[in-house]
Amino acid sequence: MLSAVLENIRNRRSVRLFDNKDISESDIQTVLQAANHAPSAHNQQSWRFIVVRGAKKQDLAGLVSRKAADFPKTSSALLRMAARSISSAPVVVGVVNTGEMIKHASDLFSLDRRNSQEFFKVMEIQSSAAAIQNLLLAATDLGISSVWLGVLMLIKDDMLSFFEESDGEFMAAVPLGYSEKTKAMPSKKSLEAKVKYL
Ligand SMILES: Cc1cc2nc3c(=O)[nH]c(=O)nc-3n(C[C@H](O)[C@H](O)[C@H](O)COP(=O)(O)O)c2cc1C
Repeated sequence: MLSAVLENIRNRRSVRLFDNKDISESDIQTVLQAANHAPSAHNQQSWRFIVVRGAKKQDLAGLVSRKAADFPKTSSALLRMAARSISSAPVVVGVVNTGEMIKHASDLFSLDRRNSQEFFKVMEIQSSAAAIQNLLLAATDLGISSVWLGVLMLIKDDMLSFFEESDGEFMAAVPLGYSEKTKAMPSKKSLEAKVKYL
């Protein structure tokens, strides 16, 4: 029998439309706490979470929908779908990298500032990605559905100013909500195609 953690890893699905049911503040706190417990490079915890709901969230959906018109067909369709997800979810969590690691870590690591920028940027992105995955898994554990919206990187500057985080780096937004519909696991490539033992 799988542990609860392994069950949640297996059962988590990307859900893009949500039922009209709110999420309790204590459940929001639980998923944010799980995100905040993620590993991070040099324990810098270089993330911020922005919780958006109500009228402000509808403003965000409107912004994404309007911006979609500036892009060619496929990316425009993905942005419009993202806007629908944001609109139908009761809660959206924005995830932003603080950029602090990029600013200060070259001193911490005694590395040349110019050459280490990319290294620290990647470390921040990887740390925030770990936080997002924790958030998704905690939500799954609470019966809350979610989707990781990376396509919003296309409008990252608009997202940052919407989140009032202009000094940071946009990572993603995650709509959270309930869905009665069950989703089958999309096809996943076999482990054999992905793993080699040396
Ligand atoms: C970095 C990243 C970015 C993603 N961006 C989007 C997105 O912009 N829109 C979307 O609908 N799904 C997005 N997804 C969700 C993927 O489409 C989804 O994980 C994949 O199709 C597998 O389905 P599953 O999550 O149900 O296993 C993203 C996932 C990741 C990890």
